[in-house]
Amino acid sequence: MSFKRKLCLFAVATLVVVFVFWSSRMGITVFMGLPTMCPGQPSEETITRLHGTKHLLVSAYADRRVSGKDIRIIGIFNRYSAQELHCVFCCQGSMSGQSPATVLLHSDNFGYPYVTTDVLCQTPAGCKGSHVALVPSQLRATTENLAWLPVRNLKEAEQEEARLPFNLTVCISVLFENFNNVLQAADLYILEMYRLLGVNKVVIYNISSGPELDRLLHSYSQEGFLETVPWPINWHLTLSHGWLFSESGGDLHYFRQLTTLNECIYRSMHQSRYVLLNDLDEIIMPYQHDDLPSLISDLQQQHPDVHEFRIENHIFPKTHVEPSGKFQLPQWEGVPGLNILQHIYREEPDYSIYHPYKMIVRPRLVEQTSVHEVLKKSGKSYKVPREVCRIIHVRTPLRASLKLEQLHMDMRLWDFHQKLIPSVNQALRRAGE
Ligand SMILES: *[C@@H]1O[C@H](CO)[C@@H](O)[C@H](O)[C@H]1NC(C)=O
Ligand SMILES: *[C@@H]1O[C@H](CO)[C@@H](O)[C@H](O)[C@H]1NC(C)=O
Repeated sequence: MSFKRKLCLFAVATLVVVFVFWSSRMGITVFMGLPTMCPGQPSEETITRLHGTKHLLVSAYADRRVSGKDIRIIGIFNRYSAQELHCVFCCQGSMSGQSPATVLLHSDNFGYPYVTTDVLCQTPAGCKGSHVALVPSQLRATTENLAWLPVRNLKEAEQEEARLPFNLTVCISVLFENFNNVLQAADLYILEMYRLLGVNKVVIYNISSGPELDRLLHSYSQEGFLETVPWPINWHLTLSHGWLFSESGGDLHYFRQLTTLNECIYRSMHQSRYVLLNDLDEIIMPYQHDDLPSLISDLQQQHPDVHEFRIENHIFPKTHVEPSGKFQLPQWEGVPGLNILQHIYREEPDYSIYHPYKMIVRPRLVEQTSVHEVLKKSGKSYKVPREVCRIIHVRTPLRASLKLEQLHMDMRLWDFHQKLIPSVNQALRRAGE
């Protein structure tokens, strides 16, 4: 090879090296297919085991609300095997040094060994980290033990609250295993009812669903109304079907409902001004407003410093059916589950004992939540008067000793029947196709 040729090759090689270096500093990934210098692969699972520990990791979110930390990783930790952890970042393709992580176990564990946990990390100066991983302090990070979590909300966090695309998102904690495996009439009612009530989006955590329900959920996802998040928690832990360890055993509370609610708050924080946390068998019903956004807007104006609106639960026993049968429609006969329009009798709650609530929150002001109350937030909480809004919860009676004449007649749902019935029919047709 002539000297000129060597010089030429050298110049080209130098240019390439300089360009790659420059582009990686600018955050541009040039040779997409080439392996990066960060060992291991980003996790594509919703639930990732933290190597060398008993803990599970769910997702990482940019969160600049806590000073000195800017990333929050939501996980499920075994509280009997506490461990010091370090954060590692993948910065423009190369791995950062390790920095100590702050591990915060949520206070509500209901006696279970596994508990929702936040791990806080700080991105190193100069690092545009889009992936983060955790390592137990005594381990060295290697290809085998690193599972990178993509950091979500990095850009979205700049969005002003007033410009968010959605007013209200409903987070349904978990699509239960077995329980809702077939299409249930009540699922349809509740999804359609929420649409009528002005909800922009529903997020559901899916453990498993049967083919009929699956088809239906896919059709809601396609139109953008529903987001289903895979939740294969049963691959990792022994689930409890109850909510108290001393009664039902298992590893964690009610299919890890608490983790999904927290995850949903962070997932929705930069999309939706308000988030409603509840289950698929309950409807948060405004009694003096036509829809939920107008209720929330009034409540917020009356109580500007409140960021958690608590809604009282009311039981409509499924044992009592409305006598006229006017909503006993022939086309719904083959569909299992409750026809909620037929249940119009409401129990008077026993206020002398504990009374559960569900919440509508401003997600940007919430750090941690439990099922019936928010754990860490800025701002105040407010119990919405029951005549303004209450939960319609059709289920087995709570106060079975009450006689029919001791129950209240409550036909608020009927105000929606003209729109609700055709929507449910349409959804049923879609699910059957
Ligand atoms: C949010 O609420 C405002 C005011 O009520 C309304 O004008 C707007 O259309 C709503 N946005 C969505 C996405 O529903
Ligand atoms: C729910 O999860 C099950 C099991 O992983 C899966 O087969 C099904 O397609 C999922 N359904 C939806 C709507 O995402």
